[in-house]
Amino acid sequence: MKFFIDTANLEQIKEAQDLGILDGVTTNPSLMAKEGINGAEAIKQHYKTICEIVDGDISAEVLSTTYEEMIKEGEELAAIHPNIVVKIPMIKDGVKALKYFSDKGIKTNCTLIFSAGQALLAAKAGATYVSPFLGRLDDISTDGLNLIEEIRTIYNNYMYDTEILAASIRSPMHIINCAKIGADVITSPLPSILALLKHPLTDLGLAQFVADAKKLG
Ligand code: G3P
Repeated sequence: MKFFIDTANLEQIKEAQDLGILDGVTTNPSLMAKEGINGAEAIKQHYKTICEIVDGDISAEVLSTTYEEMIKEGEELAAIHPNIVVKIPMIKDGVKALKYFSDKGIKTNCTLIFSAGQALLAAKAGATYVSPFLGRLDDISTDGLNLIEEIRTIYNNYMYDTEILAASIRSPMHIINCAKIGADVITSPLPSILALLKHPLTDLGLAQFVADAKKLG
């Protein structure tokens, strides 16, 4: 399973990269705004910097919602670096844009996936990744993991190449459950990734080993 980090924060991206387990980065307009990135040029520069830190797929989301504008914007984003993946919302014009980019060999990530039908359409349109939003479904008392399972079954049935990129991850258990289901990728904030490291018996065991090591001289 591939690990992406879901942030536009350069320090956190560097920290995950230093850990040696990072396969890519996802961002969205909210995450970019959180870092105070303003204006088209600043946004492009920020993506360029992320591409210089991480050698993997970097999702850059279009800000427009019409077919023509998404094509123009997506082509500009794709021109920043070969690792840029154009992130497109699951709307009617977005499906058309996915097909356009797929035909051109430009990678895409279809975002805001909340149903199996949406994921099926995105795969039909040739999306490289689909991003089902696990946590936001859980937030409205709907089982987000069930959606990941449904998409896995459908993609397996027809051997779609589209990769399931589980997004809106809120906890280490989300990551573990996605791995059990067979999501191809998880994109997570740094704290949930680091939480996978933790176990009190590891801490206790290490403290004992360090204490005993001192006796060895
Ligand atoms: O990048 C999309 C997704 O991961 C957003 O997560 O926590 O805002 O629901 P969240």
